[in-house]
Amino acid sequence: MTDTLTLTMRTGGRPVLVLGAAPEAERWLDALALSTTLFRGWGAAATVPGVAPAARPDSEAALHGMVANSAMVVILDEHASDAAAVLNAAAVANVPTWVPGRPAAGTAEPALPAGGAPGSPAASATAPAETTLPTQEIPATGFVSLVGAGPGAPDLLTLRGLRTLQKADVVIHDRLVAASLLEQVPAAAERIFVGKRRSNHAVPQEQINQLLLDRAREGKHVVRLKGGDPFIFGRGGEEIEHLMEAGVPFRVVPGVTAASGCAAYAGIPLTHRDYAQSCVFATGHRREGALDLDFQGLVRAGRTLVFYMGLHSLQDLCDGLIGHGMRADMPTALVQQGTTVAQRVITAPLNGLPEAVAQSGIRAPTLLIIGEVVALRDRLAWFEGTGESMAWAENPDR
Ligand SMILES: C[S@@+](CC[C@H](N)C(=O)[O-])C[C@H]1O[C@@H](n2cnc3c(N)ncnc32)[C@H](O)[C@@H]1O
Repeated sequence: MTDTLTLTMRTGGRPVLVLGAAPEAERWLDALALSTTLFRGWGAAATVPGVAPAARPDSEAALHGMVANSAMVVILDEHASDAAAVLNAAAVANVPTWVPGRPAAGTAEPALPAGGAPGSPAASATAPAETTLPTQEIPATGFVSLVGAGPGAPDLLTLRGLRTLQKADVVIHDRLVAASLLEQVPAAAERIFVGKRRSNHAVPQEQINQLLLDRAREGKHVVRLKGGDPFIFGRGGEEIEHLMEAGVPFRVVPGVTAASGCAAYAGIPLTHRDYAQSCVFATGHRREGALDLDFQGLVRAGRTLVFYMGLHSLQDLCDGLIGHGMRADMPTALVQQGTTVAQRVITAPLNGLPEAVAQSGIRAPTLLIIGEVVALRDRLAWFEGTGESMAWAENPDR
């Protein structure tokens, strides 16, 4: 095992902007100069053999333009004049940055391979292509990232979500977040579990909101890690509203919501040209003891219904839909712990689902899918029987 990662970057013919001078950085420049990458910049860049330096842009707008048109920004000396402005412009324009002397400060740091520089033929031979994707700069001052952790399988986290986690000072996480994702967080980062359970918040929402504010005001990068997607039954909107009112900067990193994850892993396309032209996400959670649903509006031909948090109101949901005209034998599926090795799927006609579920011993979290598309599972189920799902049968304690 090696402690370096060899990366390749496609510049698409765009120049790399190199700024600043630092004696120890000469070796990086020498290696970079071997590649076909073009450089431009001012200051130390003038010393790269054969590379004519560009003039310093004469306005803020011109500087932003130059950065935005670069494939990457390399800052050899963070204290060089314009370094901060260039880094800031790169963050705005989503241009990858590399500060060789600052590996953990939110920059992309390609490790130079023994055989050549990033982008050189020698480097490309061994390099993964991931760095062709843009990276996001996290501002150095207090900042909150609201990150969707995905539906269960840890590697359904987005790449941006992973990169954000790896730059966290504090992680505030929920119950439905895969434990192994927390291993991606720097060892020194603070981890705070605020484990929300159905109608029983381990930490009240107001306290979570305050925690986000407090840690951000300490100048930290706070990652608020939520199951699925933060904006789908995740109270993400409330949390950022609070941050916005307090003037704390934030960003939202979407996640794969349970409906997408469970449906995909159960072999149930949520829409299908022949069977479903629309799909509705609804909640089966009771408010003050009652379901707050417009059954009349929900029941439509050619529509798939997905209920989050519906296990405990299953009977009422089925009765309500049948009572408002849905056919009693409409195909349904209840997916437990979708996308994980513990996934289970119960299928039954709408009027038989409560009984089938009662017999099954299935438990939360579950997602309910109702509609003609569910019948496609008979042909399209793919996850069961794969090595991934078999792992549970071999090791139920995982
Ligand atoms: C409070 S909601 C949060 C939803 C989340 N924000 C999302 O986008 O998936 C929690 C509900 O999502 C559903 N859920 C989340 N993950 C699930 C999974 N892996 N399998 C089945 N249902 C899941 C369950 O209905 C659970 O009660």
